[in-house]
Amino acid sequence: MDPLDLLNQVAAEVRVCVQCQLNVSRKNAVPGEGPPNAEVLFIGEGPGFYENEQGRPFVGAAGKFLDELLQRAHLQREKVFITNVVKCRPPGNRDPLPEELEACSWFLDRQIEAINPMVIVTLGRFSMAKFMGNVRISDVHGQSRWVNGRLVVAMFHPAAALHQPSLKNAVLDDFGRLPGYLTQARTNRDKMQAVQVTSEDENLPDEDKPTQLSLF
Ligand code: URA
Repeated sequence: MDPLDLLNQVAAEVRVCVQCQLNVSRKNAVPGEGPPNAEVLFIGEGPGFYENEQGRPFVGAAGKFLDELLQRAHLQREKVFITNVVKCRPPGNRDPLPEELEACSWFLDRQIEAINPMVIVTLGRFSMAKFMGNVRISDVHGQSRWVNGRLVVAMFHPAAALHQPSLKNAVLDDFGRLPGYLTQARTNRDKMQAVQVTSEDENLPDEDKPTQLSLF
Protein backbone atom coordinates (compact mmCIF):
# COMPACT_ATOMS: atom_id res chain seq x y z
CA MET A 1 0.00 0.00 0.00
CA ASP A 2 1.14 3.55 -0.69
CA PRO A 3 2.74 4.99 2.52
CA LEU A 4 0.37 7.98 2.69
CA ASP A 5 -2.68 5.73 2.24
CA LEU A 6 -1.42 3.43 4.98
CA LEU A 7 -0.81 6.36 7.36
CA ASN A 8 -4.28 7.75 6.61
CA GLN A 9 -5.82 4.36 7.20
CA VAL A 10 -4.03 3.99 10.55
CA ALA A 11 -5.12 7.51 11.57
CA ALA A 12 -8.74 6.76 10.67
CA GLU A 13 -8.65 3.54 12.73
CA VAL A 14 -7.01 5.32 15.69
CA ARG A 15 -9.75 7.97 15.76
CA VAL A 16 -12.50 5.38 16.26
CA CYS A 17 -10.48 2.82 18.24
CA VAL A 18 -12.14 1.18 21.27
CA GLN A 19 -9.45 -1.46 21.90
CA CYS A 20 -8.63 -0.13 25.39
CA GLN A 21 -10.23 1.91 28.13
CA LEU A 22 -8.49 5.15 27.08
CA ASN A 23 -11.19 5.63 24.43
CA VAL A 24 -13.74 6.38 27.17
CA SER A 25 -12.05 9.52 28.49
CA ARG A 26 -10.45 10.83 25.30
CA LYS A 27 -11.70 13.94 23.55
CA ASN A 28 -9.53 13.47 20.47
CA ALA A 29 -7.25 10.58 19.62
CA VAL A 30 -3.81 11.70 18.43
CA PRO A 31 -2.53 9.48 15.60
CA GLY A 32 0.58 11.57 14.94
CA GLU A 33 1.67 13.83 12.12
CA GLY A 34 4.39 14.37 9.57
CA PRO A 35 5.29 13.46 6.00
CA PRO A 36 5.15 9.80 4.92
CA ASN A 37 8.76 9.96 3.70
CA ALA A 38 10.22 11.39 6.94
CA GLU A 39 13.80 10.25 7.59
CA VAL A 40 13.35 10.67 11.33
CA LEU A 41 10.48 9.39 13.49
CA PHE A 42 10.02 10.73 17.04
CA ILE A 43 8.01 8.56 19.42
CA GLY A 44 6.74 10.05 22.68
CA GLU A 45 4.64 8.54 25.43
CA GLY A 46 1.04 9.64 25.03
CA PRO A 47 -1.07 12.74 24.46
CA GLY A 48 -1.38 15.23 27.31
CA PHE A 49 -4.11 17.80 27.98
CA TYR A 50 -3.54 20.06 24.97
CA GLU A 51 -2.89 17.17 22.59
CA ASN A 52 -6.21 15.60 23.67
CA GLU A 53 -7.93 18.94 23.01
CA GLN A 54 -6.40 19.44 19.56
CA GLY A 55 -5.80 15.91 18.26
CA ARG A 56 -2.17 16.81 17.47
CA PRO A 57 1.04 15.52 19.12
CA PHE A 58 3.37 17.65 21.23
CA VAL A 59 1.49 20.95 21.17
CA GLY A 60 1.71 21.74 24.91
CA ALA A 61 4.70 22.78 27.02
CA ALA A 62 6.70 19.62 26.21
CA GLY A 63 5.95 20.29 22.54
CA LYS A 64 7.34 23.82 22.75
CA PHE A 65 10.51 22.42 24.24
CA LEU A 66 10.61 19.71 21.57
CA ASP A 67 10.44 22.48 18.92
CA GLU A 68 13.52 24.05 20.54
CA LEU A 69 15.29 20.68 20.58
CA LEU A 70 14.48 20.07 16.90
CA GLN A 71 16.08 23.40 16.06
CA ARG A 72 19.12 22.37 18.03
CA ALA A 73 19.30 19.20 15.91
CA HIS A 74 18.87 21.29 12.71
CA LEU A 75 15.61 19.50 11.95
CA GLN A 76 12.40 21.13 10.71
CA ARG A 77 9.26 19.94 12.47
CA GLU A 78 7.37 19.67 9.13
CA LYS A 79 9.99 17.20 7.85
CA VAL A 80 9.90 14.70 10.73
CA PHE A 81 7.09 12.41 11.85
CA ILE A 82 5.94 12.72 15.47
CA THR A 83 3.77 10.19 17.26
CA ASN A 84 3.34 8.39 20.59
CA VAL A 85 3.25 4.83 21.89
CA VAL A 86 -0.35 5.36 23.00
CA LYS A 87 -2.60 7.51 20.86
CA CYS A 88 -5.16 8.52 23.51
CA ARG A 89 -4.53 10.53 26.67
CA PRO A 90 -4.07 8.53 29.85
CA PRO A 91 -6.28 10.31 32.44
CA GLY A 92 -4.34 12.82 34.53
CA ASN A 93 -1.26 12.08 32.36
CA ARG A 94 -0.59 8.87 34.26
CA ASP A 95 1.80 6.30 32.77
CA PRO A 96 0.26 4.10 30.07
CA LEU A 97 -0.65 0.62 31.32
CA PRO A 98 0.80 -2.54 29.74
CA GLU A 99 -2.56 -3.48 28.20
CA GLU A 100 -2.89 0.02 26.70
CA LEU A 101 0.60 -0.18 25.20
CA GLU A 102 -0.21 -3.61 23.83
CA ALA A 103 -3.55 -2.52 22.34
CA CYS A 104 -1.92 0.44 20.60
CA SER A 105 1.28 -1.22 19.36
CA TRP A 106 -0.17 -2.39 16.03
CA PHE A 107 -0.85 1.23 15.05
CA LEU A 108 2.75 2.24 15.74
CA ASP A 109 4.11 -0.83 13.97
CA ARG A 110 2.18 0.04 10.82
CA GLN A 111 3.25 3.69 11.03
CA ILE A 112 6.88 2.54 11.15
CA GLU A 113 6.27 0.22 8.20
CA ALA A 114 4.67 3.06 6.17
CA ILE A 115 7.29 5.72 6.96
CA ASN A 116 10.28 3.36 6.91
CA PRO A 117 12.41 5.91 8.80
CA MET A 118 16.19 5.67 8.92
CA VAL A 119 16.32 7.04 12.46
CA ILE A 120 13.85 6.52 15.31
CA VAL A 121 14.18 8.82 18.31
CA THR A 122 12.49 7.51 21.43
CA LEU A 123 11.31 10.18 23.85
CA GLY A 124 11.07 8.71 27.32
CA ARG A 125 11.22 5.21 28.73
CA PHE A 126 8.05 3.68 27.25
CA SER A 127 9.04 4.15 23.61
CA MET A 128 12.65 3.27 24.50
CA ALA A 129 11.51 -0.06 25.99
CA LYS A 130 9.80 -1.03 22.73
CA PHE A 131 13.19 -1.07 20.96
CA MET A 132 15.78 -1.55 23.69
CA GLY A 133 14.05 -3.76 26.22
CA ASN A 134 14.92 -3.53 29.86
CA VAL A 135 17.56 -0.78 29.98
CA ARG A 136 17.71 2.33 32.15
CA ILE A 137 17.24 5.61 30.37
CA SER A 138 19.81 7.23 32.64
CA ASP A 139 22.36 4.72 31.27
CA VAL A 140 21.55 4.92 27.57
CA HIS A 141 20.22 8.42 26.86
CA GLY A 142 21.90 10.01 23.86
CA GLN A 143 23.12 6.63 22.65
CA SER A 144 22.07 4.77 19.53
CA ARG A 145 21.74 1.17 18.48
CA TRP A 146 20.75 -0.55 15.25
CA VAL A 147 17.36 -2.25 15.46
CA ASN A 148 16.02 -3.96 12.31
CA GLY A 149 18.18 -1.79 10.07
CA ARG A 150 17.21 1.49 11.72
CA LEU A 151 19.26 3.64 14.05
CA VAL A 152 17.30 4.00 17.28
CA VAL A 153 18.36 6.84 19.56
CA ALA A 154 17.13 6.99 23.17
CA MET A 155 16.35 10.44 24.55
CA PHE A 156 14.91 11.65 27.83
CA HIS A 157 11.31 12.82 27.44
CA PRO A 158 11.27 16.62 26.97
CA ALA A 159 8.74 16.90 29.82
CA ALA A 160 11.25 15.21 32.16
CA ALA A 161 13.70 18.02 31.49
CA LEU A 162 10.98 20.59 32.17
CA HIS A 163 10.25 18.97 35.55
CA GLN A 164 13.91 18.36 36.46
CA PRO A 165 16.00 21.32 35.30
CA SER A 166 19.18 19.32 36.05
CA LEU A 167 18.35 17.15 33.00
CA LYS A 168 18.05 20.07 30.61
CA ASN A 169 21.72 20.22 29.60
CA ALA A 170 21.83 16.46 29.04
CA VAL A 171 18.78 16.67 26.76
CA LEU A 172 20.28 19.59 24.83
CA ASP A 173 23.59 17.70 24.43
CA ASP A 174 21.79 14.52 23.33
CA PHE A 175 19.81 16.36 20.65
CA GLY A 176 23.01 18.03 19.51
CA ARG A 177 24.23 14.56 18.52
CA LEU A 178 21.28 13.83 16.24
CA PRO A 179 22.78 15.35 13.04
CA GLY A 180 25.75 12.97 13.43
CA TYR A 181 23.40 9.99 13.84
CA LEU A 182 21.46 11.04 10.77
CA THR A 183 24.67 11.21 8.74
CA GLN A 184 25.61 7.75 10.02
CA ALA A 185 22.21 6.34 9.04
CA ARG A 186 22.35 7.94 5.57
CA THR A 187 25.84 6.52 4.98
CA ASN A 188 24.61 3.09 5.99
CA ARG A 189 21.56 3.36 3.69
CA ASP A 190 23.80 4.36 0.75
CA LYS A 191 26.12 1.41 1.44
CA MET A 192 23.18 -1.00 1.61
CA GLN A 193 21.80 0.34 -1.65
CA ALA A 194 25.22 -0.11 -3.28
CA VAL A 195 25.40 -3.70 -2.05
CA GLN A 196 21.90 -4.34 -3.36
CA VAL A 197 22.72 -2.87 -6.79
CA THR A 198 25.93 -4.92 -6.96
CA SER A 199 24.15 -8.16 -6.15
CA GLU A 200 21.41 -7.37 -8.66
CA ASP A 201 24.11 -6.69 -11.28
CA GLU A 202 25.53 -10.14 -10.71
CA ASN A 203 22.44 -11.55 -12.41
CA LEU A 204 22.81 -9.35 -15.48
CA PRO A 205 24.33 -10.61 -18.73
CA ASP A 206 27.96 -9.48 -19.07
CA GLU A 207 27.21 -6.76 -21.63
CA ASP A 208 24.74 -5.06 -19.25
CA LYS A 209 27.04 -5.06 -16.21
CA PRO A 210 28.22 -1.60 -15.16
CA THR A 211 31.89 -1.05 -15.80
CA GLN A 212 34.13 0.97 -13.61
CA LEU A 213 35.62 3.87 -15.54
CA SER A 214 39.33 4.30 -15.27
CA LEU A 215 41.19 7.52 -15.87
CA PHE A 216 44.24 5.63 -17.07
N1 URA B 1 3.97 14.09 25.77
C1 URA B 1 4.01 13.04 24.94
O1 URA B 1 4.63 12.03 25.23
N2 URA B 1 3.37 13.12 23.80
C2 URA B 1 2.70 14.18 23.42
O2 URA B 1 2.14 14.16 22.32
C3 URA B 1 2.68 15.28 24.27
C4 URA B 1 3.31 15.22 25.45
